[in-house]
Amino acid sequence: MRITLGVTGGVAAYKAAELVRLLQQDGFTVEVVMTRGAREFVTPLTFAALSGQKVITDLFEKSAAGEANLESAIEHIAVAQRTDLLLVAPATADALAKFARGIADDFLTTLYLAATAPVIVAPAMNVNMWNHAATQENIETLRARGVKIVNPDEGYLACGMTGAGRLAGQQEIITAVRETLRTQKDLENETILITAGPTCEDLDPVRYLTNRSSGKMGYAVAGAAARRGAKVVLVSGPVHLETPAGVERIAVRSAEQMRGAVAERLARSTIAIFAAAVADYRPAELQTEKMKRNGAPLTLRLEPTPDILAEAAQTKGDRLIVGFAAETDHVADNARKKLAAKNADLIVANNVTAEGAGFDYDTNIVTLFSRDGRDLALPKLTKSDVAQRILDEVLRLRGVLRTKTESHRSAV
Ligand code: C5P
Repeated sequence: MRITLGVTGGVAAYKAAELVRLLQQDGFTVEVVMTRGAREFVTPLTFAALSGQKVITDLFEKSAAGEANLESAIEHIAVAQRTDLLLVAPATADALAKFARGIADDFLTTLYLAATAPVIVAPAMNVNMWNHAATQENIETLRARGVKIVNPDEGYLACGMTGAGRLAGQQEIITAVRETLRTQKDLENETILITAGPTCEDLDPVRYLTNRSSGKMGYAVAGAAARRGAKVVLVSGPVHLETPAGVERIAVRSAEQMRGAVAERLARSTIAIFAAAVADYRPAELQTEKMKRNGAPLTLRLEPTPDILAEAAQTKGDRLIVGFAAETDHVADNARKKLAAKNADLIVANNVTAEGAGFDYDTNIVTLFSRDGRDLALPKLTKSDVAQRILDEVLRLRGVLRTKTESHRSAV
């Protein structure tokens, strides 16, 4: 993931250098943008050396002939598009005021307006400047707009005064970044088995039965879980997707193969998430030769495939089981029934007929039905955000179920 670090002009600008290092250690690519003021305190070379990237300083970078070029004139848009997060640390009172008002008179302030990625600001300034009504109003404006504020610490300030205004600690800023980008390692102790994609049930050497599953939802869950520190095994039917970083993928084709792979890896998993659209039926006989066309009607005899989720839930122990329900009607009723019938802990239900939900979309509209009775209806979100919310709910449920077991044990 890519973070743009905006450095503005304050004594604390030197602390941003250490931030670059810490963010890189967390696996982020860091691109630095410096304001003119920042360059009075630290040179761009320091950040270029640390980040290994060109440091952006001017809205209109001049060529050797002294002319601004088109590439640099639109670079703020390119940077805005490629960044996953804009972090401004330290943020001066001036930068906050410009952000709040939408003034765009340099690269950083222009980038702030052009970026759609989340924004975090870590202010640092003199205590009176920080406490000034103008600054506090700007902070409130930004907060209301969804900007995350990492409040300054109290302490001795470079100007000789004592009070609030010192740039927050590096760890506090890093935590804010992780929380915002959902890279908190809160699944570090989990091994998650995930099924994804469709299955293909062969009829003969060239024909098969399948469905429209793209695998996007399951892959999003796998990627999100790996980023949150889980060990992830992804049992995947045939899809055109890249395996997310840090995920072990086991490629399968049929429901039977998926069942085999799940059976082999289930015992070692602490959570199992069944996002695959497993074919419900398969041809009763597999023809070894290509079936010939003879003009007469053809009847295929199909037999049911095993319910992989239901089988896995029979021996679940402490393992948390998550299922998906793609419905076209009576979503809540069907989902609750499925939760009970399959002995699952959480069902992610969606109405596949809704606009922007289900197969092949990058967005999804789901409701999470939990074993403890909670229904959580989510708005239309990207599949990656849905994945995060599913994992949040899994962790919440894990806590609830553990507490219940513990109180039950102590009662006995
Ligand atoms: O019963 P239904 O097919 O709607 O259940 C969907 C859920 O069950 C999904 O989580 C799906 O991955 C899982 N499933 C399975 N094996 C099957 C059918 C469904 O694991 N044969």
